[in-house]
Amino acid sequence: MRLEHIDDVVDQIRPNDRAAFVGPTDSGKTVLMREIAKHFDNVVMESPKGEWAWDLQIERDPQLQERKQKRYSRRAYDLAGLRTHLNQVEADGSGDPVVVLPRRPNLHGLTPPQVERAMAMYWMQLDEPFRLALERGNTMACSDELYFHCSGSNFQTRAPHLFFHVTQGRSLGNGALFGCQRPFWVPKIVFSEAQHVFVFYLEEQDDRDAMDGRAGKKRGQPSPINWDTLHDEEHSFVWISRRNGVSEPLHLNLEERRLYV
Ligand SMILES: Nc1ncnc2c1ncn2[C@@H]1O[C@H](COP(=O)(O)OP(=O)(O)O)[C@@H](O)[C@H]1O
Ligand SMILES: [Mg+2]
Repeated sequence: MRLEHIDDVVDQIRPNDRAAFVGPTDSGKTVLMREIAKHFDNVVMESPKGEWAWDLQIERDPQLQERKQKRYSRRAYDLAGLRTHLNQVEADGSGDPVVVLPRRPNLHGLTPPQVERAMAMYWMQLDEPFRLALERGNTMACSDELYFHCSGSNFQTRAPHLFFHVTQGRSLGNGALFGCQRPFWVPKIVFSEAQHVFVFYLEEQDDRDAMDGRAGKKRGQPSPINWDTLHDEEHSFVWISRRNGVSEPLHLNLEERRLYV
């Protein structure tokens, strides 16, 4: 399959697929996730770090530019805000994406039990977009930083709707994009249920082994993942797809959204 443009990747991702983006900080997960998410309708993009930019290319046609800016302007800071935006998107039928930027809890001066309660509320708040996505259907619900939601062992209780979304959302038309730094300490289902994994260079041998397994490496055989190139080329990644196998290392050019091998 020829991969020359980000569209060639997007064309292979269905709106109810799940995709994971794995790589250390600054590898390029958020950028790649953003460029893919832009192409889908009804995206709910949660950024637990509280930062998000769509980085829109400027259109020559001022009307088109204005429409584009409007489409990508929706931001919610709490549940009420998210509900309002989703209702508006439903009413106008636009499919506009909504970015969710949750507030971090203020733990200053709290006693340990108060901290526990505040954190429980925070995790619930992080989980709300996934609850609404399940209610709504046909939604691509995403989180830029899976580590904020839960770890491998507590996700059913700490992020219950994220769990339901991953395990049961597909039949409702719900897809998901998740970013995480390593293939460990996150719910196993995020990988086992994913149709697509985008992998950047991983420092730890254990992490590379896990991804080699996912890529179908056989014992004693070379890895289908070209780790040397991933190591040498900043922001390069491979795409492991259930349907299409393992890609060559790819590099996304941000000016034209072209892919270079
Ligand atoms: N394909 C790319 N080409 C050029 N710069 C990139 C590319 N991908 C990421 N970057 C830059 O690298 C930095 C980190 O990218 P980011 O996607 O935020 O990483 P991560 O989410 O993995 O921490 C950003 O400043 C971003 O602009
Ligand atoms: Mg990021």
